[in-house]
Amino acid sequence: MVVLLATPFVAGQHADLLSQFSTAITPRTWDEAYVLAAPFVAQLSLTEKISLTTGTGIALGPCSGNVANIPRLNFRYLCLQDGPAGLRGVDLVTLFPAGITTGATWDRELLYLRSRAMGVENRLKGVNVALAPVGGAIGRAPAAGRGWESFGADPWLNGVANAESVRGLQDEGVVACAKHWIANEQEKYRLVIDSIAYGPIFKSLDSQVSQRALRELYEWPFFDAVQAGAGSVMCSYQRVNSEYACESATMIAQHLKGNSSTGGLGFRGFVMTDWFASAAPDLAATAGVDMVMPGDLGLTGIAAATKRASTGFNGTRLDEMAVRTLAAWFKMRQDEGRLGNISFSSWNPDSEFGAWVDRAYIGQINFHVPANPPLHAAISRRIAAEGTVLLKNTKGALPLGAGIKRVGIFGNDAGPITKDCGTFTICEEGTLVVGWGSGSGLIDHVVDPLSAITEHVSALSGSVDSVLDDYDYAGIRQKARDQDVCLAFINSRSGEGTNNVQGNQGDRNNITAWRDGDTLVRTVAGECANTIVVIHSVGAIIMEPWIEHPNVTAVVLANLPGQESGNSLVDVLWGATNPSGKLPYTIAKQEADYCCRVQYEWTGFFPEQKFDEALLIDYKWFDAKRIAPRFEFGFGLSYTNFTYGGTLGISTPKSLAATGFVDTVFTVTTQVTNSGDVAGKEVVQLYLSLPSAAPAGTPVRQLRGFEKVALQPRETKQVSFKVTRRDLSYWDETAKGWLALKGAYEISVGASSRDLLATANVVVS
Ligand code: NOJ
Repeated sequence: MVVLLATPFVAGQHADLLSQFSTAITPRTWDEAYVLAAPFVAQLSLTEKISLTTGTGIALGPCSGNVANIPRLNFRYLCLQDGPAGLRGVDLVTLFPAGITTGATWDRELLYLRSRAMGVENRLKGVNVALAPVGGAIGRAPAAGRGWESFGADPWLNGVANAESVRGLQDEGVVACAKHWIANEQEKYRLVIDSIAYGPIFKSLDSQVSQRALRELYEWPFFDAVQAGAGSVMCSYQRVNSEYACESATMIAQHLKGNSSTGGLGFRGFVMTDWFASAAPDLAATAGVDMVMPGDLGLTGIAAATKRASTGFNGTRLDEMAVRTLAAWFKMRQDEGRLGNISFSSWNPDSEFGAWVDRAYIGQINFHVPANPPLHAAISRRIAAEGTVLLKNTKGALPLGAGIKRVGIFGNDAGPITKDCGTFTICEEGTLVVGWGSGSGLIDHVVDPLSAITEHVSALSGSVDSVLDDYDYAGIRQKARDQDVCLAFINSRSGEGTNNVQGNQGDRNNITAWRDGDTLVRTVAGECANTIVVIHSVGAIIMEPWIEHPNVTAVVLANLPGQESGNSLVDVLWGATNPSGKLPYTIAKQEADYCCRVQYEWTGFFPEQKFDEALLIDYKWFDAKRIAPRFEFGFGLSYTNFTYGGTLGISTPKSLAATGFVDTVFTVTTQVTNSGDVAGKEVVQLYLSLPSAAPAGTPVRQLRGFEKVALQPRETKQVSFKVTRRDLSYWDETAKGWLALKGAYEISVGASSRDLLATANVVVS
């Protein structure tokens, strides 16, 4: 049968999960929301307006960020809660796979489902604004601490992921917050107060980025978030082209809120600062910030804001700030009473009683309201399995068959998390399921690999032997003999710059496996002819010390799987799930091959970082510099084989003059066949090269489409992509606008950024 796939997804491959949600809300349009917000704000006093646009202060309220009640109008305070992998600091919720894992599924429906489920959990817990999704850090430097919160090192992939994530949350009536705006690509030097950890700086890092890279790379995912109706955006800590991101009228008033005729995204919701990102609320407000978070230190708090207002701060702007905030609230129909009561205190998750909400309430603070139905665990498990990337599979190692009875498990990463890691998940030991910091979540319900595999193997009447001490080489050698398969677990952690884990202040010091994982793998492989390496990682790691070892028969990159880690791994290893994940970033042979490094050092007080590579991050750099990666962007193996139709069907292009920015110029159609013996899924990818007249610095090719296709053995499906004018455009620095050239565009369709299986030229006029 021939099925034509369309964009956005048609519920299909995961209809069993999607059908279990109750009806989505229909968010109001911005126009409708503004009509309701304006009169509401008109009845507010000056103090109430100020309070609505300023947080109550750090930890003064149950949520990550809190905006006070307006009792006179029965307006319940606003609760803003981390984070992007599920609620943080809150019990009875799900820890979903991280952004990077979900990006690795390349599956629109799963991206949506994850956020929809998060929307349900936030709604049940009473959260107004979920501080998600993350479209930056996008992963310019592989060692940067928070790249795993976003969906991969490509703007197009992140754009799709951001749009689906915004829709998922907001279909449940929870305001999404697209963050971090903008060019926030590392942890070190991000914030002056963090410099306590590494020496004095007087201003945060200045990301020096070309206009073209801002528009085509860093702002791209936010465009999609805004188009999807995102209610809020968070501006970031560091400086951009010498201005604080949260105090830059260029970046907020023009680029984000400005009209599309000048290249703005036309954002109509509210902009909040990241926590303590601005020490000058007047400047922030003037630049376009609508809500200052968290609202204290004497600098950013209500006192300062009151002073600001009473000393002639522009009242029209203050009204606008309040209207934008309430417009997001009305847009998501929070006036209709769908949100639950706030039943937790994320600053004190372990106390039953305490004080919160403007210090006025004393009593029970954690009510343990369940928000994690089995459906959400099922969604997490499926994403973790489909976001697992099979990098190597030789000698028929995987899937594990009936002949595998004796299983050896090696490495601390296979085992349980035994210590209390706190609400920022500062874990040093046990299996890695999520990075640390505000992007982490609840690890109470983690199914570790050792437990899940032991249960599975016991049911098959097999045996499991394990050594969890990474450095017990004698024990490992001894137990690695006489196994049918040896699973060697290694990992690599990173997180937010507020915390230091084993000498890594957020960013990784390097991109090799932690706890000498290379020696662990080589030790296991030295004894065991069937060694399968399982990697949990925040991003790329260097695999050269063992990747070609003949006894390393398979390599499974399970990314950051969230709570269903062990279950999803069993699904992949024993073949219940045929792997279909593809790399959302490049794995190099050495770190020096990447375009960019973290700026680890700075002499002086005003650190800077030049984004000289402009657009050429990740695979675009490898392509431009002709560097061979170990595994390229978009790569991933399956237990079956796929063949592609040799020619591309291309519709007659519409003339550019007759096409709007987001309109389709032409469609590309191809065929893909499952030529193997088991059912599987293929991610068909479309890359586009601009005409040769495009300016210097244009990538050799860039991702402009993908579809994940499920195929039974011998089945063929037709896949179609819509290529829009936006996809063809670049930011013209001279004209200061988007430009699509007339001329010949090269289209390549294939299984990865380097496995291009059909190519055609399209002439656009
Ligand atoms: C700082 C982080 O950068 C941001 O992502 C988070 O949402 C806030 N803190 C609130 O915790």
